[in-house]
Amino acid sequence: MGRMLRHVTRNKIIIRIFMAKCLVTGGAGFIGSNLVDALIDQGEEVAIIDNLSTGKKEYLNPRAKFYEIDICSDDVAKVFAENKFDYVFHLAAQMDVRASVDDPITDNKINVLGGFNILKQSKKNNIKKFIFTSTGGAVYGDAKEIPTTEQYLPHPVSPYGIHKLTFEKYLSYFFEVYKLPYIALRFSNVYGPRQYKGGEAGVISIFIDHAVNDKECVINGDGKQTRDFIYISDIIEAILAAKKFDHVGVFNVSDGRETNLLEIVEYIEKSIGCKLKTRHAEAKFGEQKRSCLDYGKIRKILSWEPKVGLIEGIKKTIKWSREQLK
Ligand SMILES: NC(=O)c1ccc[n+]([C@@H]2O[C@H](COP(=O)([O-])OP(=O)(O)OC[C@H]3O[C@@H](n4cnc5c(N)ncnc54)[C@H](O)[C@@H]3O)[C@@H](O)[C@H]2O)c1
Repeated sequence: MGRMLRHVTRNKIIIRIFMAKCLVTGGAGFIGSNLVDALIDQGEEVAIIDNLSTGKKEYLNPRAKFYEIDICSDDVAKVFAENKFDYVFHLAAQMDVRASVDDPITDNKINVLGGFNILKQSKKNNIKKFIFTSTGGAVYGDAKEIPTTEQYLPHPVSPYGIHKLTFEKYLSYFFEVYKLPYIALRFSNVYGPRQYKGGEAGVISIFIDHAVNDKECVINGDGKQTRDFIYISDIIEAILAAKKFDHVGVFNVSDGRETNLLEIVEYIEKSIGCKLKTRHAEAKFGEQKRSCLDYGKIRKILSWEPKVGLIEGIKKTIKWSREQLK
């Protein structure tokens, strides 16, 4: 929380509260922009690094300092020199799994080397804690244990998963050697307002967008592949809990329930009050059949658990998507 400075001028005691200084990389993106808003609501001072490759200018909170730069650039050092950050939330990423398969080198440059650039400056400038947004599904791969716990041996089957796991290893190395505290949060499938930007995004946001725009929803394969879906406000609470509690390590963040695509279509239809236009396409080669994470560790240690159920989250996302139409 904030640091308090107490000093006496004449007979008056002036108490000044300095809130924490936070850096959010990827702060113009879906999760990053929602996080920036929450930190600013808590009274924190926030700076953002984002190259706007998928992020949007209109999601930038006007009360945050914005640096339009790439996480791989040397200018990152200047941002750290200009600000004395307490916390670094590293969200900027190339996060399209298929793009990582097509171009693993670019994925590595952003997700490993770019992250390393942020981490190196965090250590040099003695920040208090580094919080990293990792991924569950892509790191565990086709897990035999469902729901999957953090003890399960990761078996990533995409460059994206390999690079997220590699960066987690750098975090653990910096903690062992330099005592830089960190938390890596392995998210399941996140959905909610600001996700859909017209390209690759989570299936719930895509289907809702297509539903409100009367477009066809394409279901790959039989639609029985499962995921566990977590609403954006629960994710933000998990990130804030990671900042608040003095713990180090890796935590799953999920809803812990498997839901298949056909059920998602049914929930959206019920919430929106009409049938969706759907079409089945061929199953995607290599697509995971099942993915579901266990959130017992974060519940026990960081006192976090999901609050927004699937139907409620879908309704909130539909409301937001309809507002975008206006
Ligand atoms: N959305 C999910 O379901 C999900 C699941 C697991 C993990 N994550 C992780 O959460 C984080 C945020 O994801 P999101 O869904 O908000 O994605 P997003 O694409 O909306 O946000 C990523 C942000 O990073 C910025 N960015 C990308 N490359 C950059 C670079 N080289 N330099 C500076 N900025 C750059 C983009 O412009 C964007 O604003 C990512 O690290 C992602 O891997 C997301």
